[in-house]
Amino acid sequence: MASQPPYSIAPLGAQHDRAAFSCGEPSLDSYLQRQASQDVRRDLAACYVLTRGDSATIIGYYTLSASSIELIGLPPELVKKSGRYPLVPAVLLGRLAVDQRFQGQGMSGLPLMDALRRALRTGVGVKLMIVDALNDSAARFYEHYDFRRFADQPMRLYLPLSAIRDLFPEDAPPGHSEGGKPAQ
Ligand SMILES: CC(C)(COP(=O)(O)OP(=O)(O)OC[C@H]1O[C@@H](n2cnc3c(N)ncnc32)[C@H](O)[C@@H]1OP(=O)(O)O)[C@@H](O)C(=O)NCCC(=O)NCCS
Repeated sequence: MASQPPYSIAPLGAQHDRAAFSCGEPSLDSYLQRQASQDVRRDLAACYVLTRGDSATIIGYYTLSASSIELIGLPPELVKKSGRYPLVPAVLLGRLAVDQRFQGQGMSGLPLMDALRRALRTGVGVKLMIVDALNDSAARFYEHYDFRRFADQPMRLYLPLSAIRDLFPEDAPPGHSEGGKPAQ
């Protein structure tokens, strides 16, 4: 029996079948079909797709953009260690979706973990990842993966980079050895 090719995650390209993608949330489908490539070309977002091997079928996708949060809007747990800069650097997980044909099979972890890892590897300072959930179900999905809600904006959630670093200690950037403890 032929073995299945492994999953891969790569930048969205012309070879990917965007038209067939359907996650059950029309705005996320049409974003991928009509807007994502343009946002990538204009350096407004990076878009990554999950496929099996080099298949054109998109199983899931996510987008990442640089962002920032005003210091006064930071969750209290992060304020103490954020200096006095008026803006704190963040990575925005703009969109994440899995095609309905593949939902309920644990697929969401692949793009999500890839997004977290990529945020860790940017090579620029990032304090937290933020995401704007489309609805309460989506917010609960992110909570399932340990994202926390902003007290004053319950549809906006965050995950401190320190928590992401703990997930991937081997990817800790210089200055953060042993999963988050600053190098001596
Ligand atoms: C949300 C979405 C990405 C989840 O993908 P999925 O393939 O259905 O989810 P998975 O099978 O990978 O589930 C992984 C885990 O998350 C949990 N989960 C999935 N959806 C959840 C939800 N809405 N609320 C709480 N937990 C959820 C699952 O129970 C599972 O838990 P387990 O690890 O304990 O087994 C997918 O349903 C989707 O694309 N929905 C439409 C778009 C959307 O709402 N995107 C959210 C970002 S705006």
